Amino acid sequence: MKFNRSDFPDNFLFGTATSAYQIEGHAFGGAGQTHWDTFAATPGNVVRAETGAIACDHYHRWQADLDLIANAGFDAYRFSTSWARVMPDGVTPNPQGLDFYDRLTDGMLERGIKPCATLYHWELPSALADKGGWQNPDIAKWFGDFTHCIMNRIGDRMHSVAPINEPWCVGWLSHFEGAHAPGLRDIRATARAMHHIMVAHGTAIQTMRALGMTNLGGVFNLEWSEPATNSAADATANALSDSYYNRFFLGGVFKGAYPDNIMEGLGPHMPDHWQDDFATIQAPLDWCGINYYTRRIVRSNTAAWPSHDVVPNGPLPKTQMGWEIYPEGLYNFLMRTKQEYTGDLPLFITENGMANADVIENGSVDDPERIDFLNQHFDAVRRAVADGAPIEGFFVWSLLDNYEWALGYEKRFGLVHVDFETLQRTPKASYHALKSALER
Ligand code: FCB
Repeated sequence: MKFNRSDFPDNFLFGTATSAYQIEGHAFGGAGQTHWDTFAATPGNVVRAETGAIACDHYHRWQADLDLIANAGFDAYRFSTSWARVMPDGVTPNPQGLDFYDRLTDGMLERGIKPCATLYHWELPSALADKGGWQNPDIAKWFGDFTHCIMNRIGDRMHSVAPINEPWCVGWLSHFEGAHAPGLRDIRATARAMHHIMVAHGTAIQTMRALGMTNLGGVFNLEWSEPATNSAADATANALSDSYYNRFFLGGVFKGAYPDNIMEGLGPHMPDHWQDDFATIQAPLDWCGINYYTRRIVRSNTAAWPSHDVVPNGPLPKTQMGWEIYPEGLYNFLMRTKQEYTGDLPLFITENGMANADVIENGSVDDPERIDFLNQHFDAVRRAVADGAPIEGFFVWSLLDNYEWALGYEKRFGLVHVDFETLQRTPKASYHALKSALER
């Protein structure tokens, strides 16, 4: 790598991230069915209809996986707690599930790894999906109860916690674009889900505060948005794209308001009395996490709200996902988030990384593309630190090749290669490069 620890502020946290459904193996340990299982079982939604039933079998191999994290020299591990494992029907605790996260937590501490939990990384129990899932206003209470159940058990040992990974994906991508479970394309469902996600987020924060917990934050995925041309129409389209993607959730949490241009479309579909919920939504946070991967280019298309198309195939080099590599967007977001939303609140990059068509040759995996990608993005962070952004850590997505949602097991994001037939782990060149960079 082109950096080492001394290029970053003292106590900067270097970590790696995963999520429960993507690695654990949901067939094990009494976990309940989730809306991802049924989404995947519906033809056309997921590549080869793959699910997280086995995934990386982390449920059984967690000790070796934690060893990989420790051996690389990472300070922290961002993992998630599956709602459907902790409460298979969404409301009734599963002792096996609680025991699993208890062991995992102690396993991190024994290895000197700081546990950074995300409560919800997308595996909604089917029993709650049957009741409308994120569209149902009761989900804030259900989520608060889940938060209490799991954090009452492991909260005393968490370094940090965030309630909901990527509200935009849970809300818009899943209810408006239909690309993730539950696969809806419905504006009313979208408006409700987006707002209820915010209320559930705030409820979880309040629940954890009541348990005496500290270092609580939010994790937002941001995609830098640029207009295709200088036309006024494209500028309007770009502003709308920026609003529903990047400003809705930050606005709710840090300003107590949603952007006006997005409410022109969502307003008529919002739940009753939504304006009264901001006291909960704005429950104070200790840090703000940004997940960043790419940019988008948008052009006006007034045929249908929200009046734009995302231009396919931008001109920049791309990852295996087809995502343009654009580290400048990360720099821009770090500066903009500080200036417009969070001020002096610590910022973290809670996800950044790339998918690459990695192959094992003679027992090793050479991934110079990922090393280059990470160098560019760490450099963007370093520039933002130099320009005054209070950034305190960076979590590489992901430790392992894993279940990449609708794209199944095809897209490899790991620092460690996983053979999905044998489940054998092979650290890639990028893993070894990071290990050298993190040496003390
Ligand atoms: C993010 C998700 C994560 C993974 C990466 C590639 O949106 O949080 O689970 O899928 O993208």
